[in-house]
Amino acid sequence: MNMTASSRIVLVLASLVLLLVTRAYGDQNCSLPDSSKQDCGFVGITQQQCQGKGCCWTPEEKRVAQDVPWCYYPAAGPSPPSPPSPPSPPLPPSGSPPFNDQEVAQMRAFFKANIDIQGSGGVVAAPDYNTGPGGSYYYHWARDGALSMHALQITADSSDDYMAQMNHYVRWVVARHAEADPHNMDVRVEPKYELPSGDVFAGSWCRPQNDGPGLRALTLMYFANTLIAKGNASLVSQLLWTGSSSAYQGGAIKFDLDWVAANWQSNTCDLWEEVQSQDFFWNHYTMRKALFTGANFAAAMNDTASAATYLAAAQAINATITQHDNGQFVYESQNRPKDAAVICAFNNGLMNDGIFQPASTPVANTISTLSSLFHDSYNLNQADDAAGVPGILYGRYEGDSYDNGNPWVLTTGCLAELLYRASAQVLTRGAVLAEEAVAWLGALQSTNRVQLEAQTAEELQDPRVLGRALAQSGDGVLLRIRYHTQSIGFHMPEQLDKNTGANLSAYDLTWSYATVLKAMKAREDAIAAYRAALFLDA
Ligand SMILES: *[C@@H]1O[C@H](CO)[C@@H](O)[C@H](O)[C@H]1NC(C)=O
Ligand SMILES: *[C@@H]1O[C@H](CO)[C@@H](O)[C@H](O)[C@H]1NC(C)=O
Ligand SMILES: *[C@@H]1O[C@H](CO)[C@@H](O)[C@H](O)[C@H]1NC(C)=O
Ligand SMILES: *[C@@H]1O[C@H](CO)[C@@H](O)[C@H](O)[C@H]1NC(C)=O
Ligand SMILES: *[C@@H]1O[C@H](CO)[C@@H](O)[C@H](O)[C@H]1NC(C)=O
Repeated sequence: MNMTASSRIVLVLASLVLLLVTRAYGDQNCSLPDSSKQDCGFVGITQQQCQGKGCCWTPEEKRVAQDVPWCYYPAAGPSPPSPPSPPSPPLPPSGSPPFNDQEVAQMRAFFKANIDIQGSGGVVAAPDYNTGPGGSYYYHWARDGALSMHALQITADSSDDYMAQMNHYVRWVVARHAEADPHNMDVRVEPKYELPSGDVFAGSWCRPQNDGPGLRALTLMYFANTLIAKGNASLVSQLLWTGSSSAYQGGAIKFDLDWVAANWQSNTCDLWEEVQSQDFFWNHYTMRKALFTGANFAAAMNDTASAATYLAAAQAINATITQHDNGQFVYESQNRPKDAAVICAFNNGLMNDGIFQPASTPVANTISTLSSLFHDSYNLNQADDAAGVPGILYGRYEGDSYDNGNPWVLTTGCLAELLYRASAQVLTRGAVLAEEAVAWLGALQSTNRVQLEAQTAEELQDPRVLGRALAQSGDGVLLRIRYHTQSIGFHMPEQLDKNTGANLSAYDLTWSYATVLKAMKAREDAIAAYRAALFLDA
């Protein structure tokens, strides 16, 4: 290895260590006992770099011991008078990921415990029979189940990790498709089922919910493509795409996609099960992906007629989708404009075709709008800012009053995933538009409320600078979740109390784990893209 190569490796390692969240302080208090000093630097950091990050510097002649950091975080300022902060666990040391490997494995174990309940293939929304206002969550929700089974696959190290559970889930879906519906509607748009029996929930509920079929089809197509790639497609032809309308209505994937192609304009409840519309961004953006993906899948199954039907419907949805950008932010629906469902949709409906890409201006503007909303809505965000905890917690939508309206782990996880994906995108693309740099400067400031390394839009036009800032911002968001869940062993609740940060509503919400695990996966991709971008630099 020549000198150039090895010095590049040193540069990369030093830069990776720099993938940390900088914290902002007003008047610094650097008088800390040595035992309380938390490392804020990296090997070889200079006094200027250290203090530039708002940290405390010990001059060389005053250094006493090797293991006491000489670039360290100042003492946290006086805690905000009210409301009181939760017991504050230390943030992880500089440069380490928001959750270490062991912690990710622990969260994945909690997540998997909620999947394939009693071998039924069903997914419990939360193993919680008394969540307060929501009552019992011990049901399979079509949407949560499809999203969770998708997350299970894309965050796995190998398909062995999910083969059994996905096989059971396929049978679960096929059996639900065959049920007679007790509510005089199409069973494919039923929201909720009993566990483990799979019976349609008999009580009154917000019906129909038309995001289930497209999300299920996406999850099942991902699995079918894995089976086909492994050369073991027998399950695909038996249950997922049978090639015959008399065998499982053509298969679980076709039955769901047929519904979406014919009914995408239908009236529906939103994903939070509260309001109705014919035009929710979440529903249409994820349906758009299901049908474009479905057109390709049908073509691969030699079903040209279905492929044409799906493509035509996908194009019809596509023609309406950018109307949701009102110039300031992407709105969920006319009756629910500012809604973090859009942030989750940017992840779940993403295709690489230029429409609402993670690093794009409309995405950045939407993050700015929602970060301002949720910052102002929750005392918890303001207290965390004051205590130097990076990031932000998102809730659901403007004016949410369910359980008094609080931050949600799952929407916050969606935000982190989106920031890491934006990071990977700009690093891979290697270019940033001037308008994107301006939009992201505002979005990053409103999301992290800490001193950014880059201060100007001009600096953010360097893709490596913006890519790193976006990854740091994702780290900040996850660190804020970490800060409030460490004391409960990284169990992920549905909500966090908007004043105290305490866990609230459903306990161990499966969808919360799904978005946090996906964010950590997206972080790996962002770091790989960052390394590649540095190596490409001549
Ligand atoms: C600085 O922080 C230390 C440790 O938290 C505390 O004991 C000390 O009183 C603080 N000094 C000032 C001036 O705030
Ligand atoms: C093929 O797939 C089926 C169903 O998914 C599974 O039961 C079987 O073990 C697989 N066979 C091989 C050789 O992987
Ligand atoms: C589709 O047709 C091609 C060409 O005739 C064939 O090789 C392939 O096996 C067919 N695929 C399926 C899923 O039937
Ligand atoms: C989707 O819509 C966009 C914007 O309206 C358009 O540019 C694009 O060509 C459309 N894509 C397809 C495949 O129709
Ligand atoms: C909060 O966490 C505690 C400790 O893990 C748990 O016992 C409790 O059930 C949780 N409460 C809620 C409302 O999630």
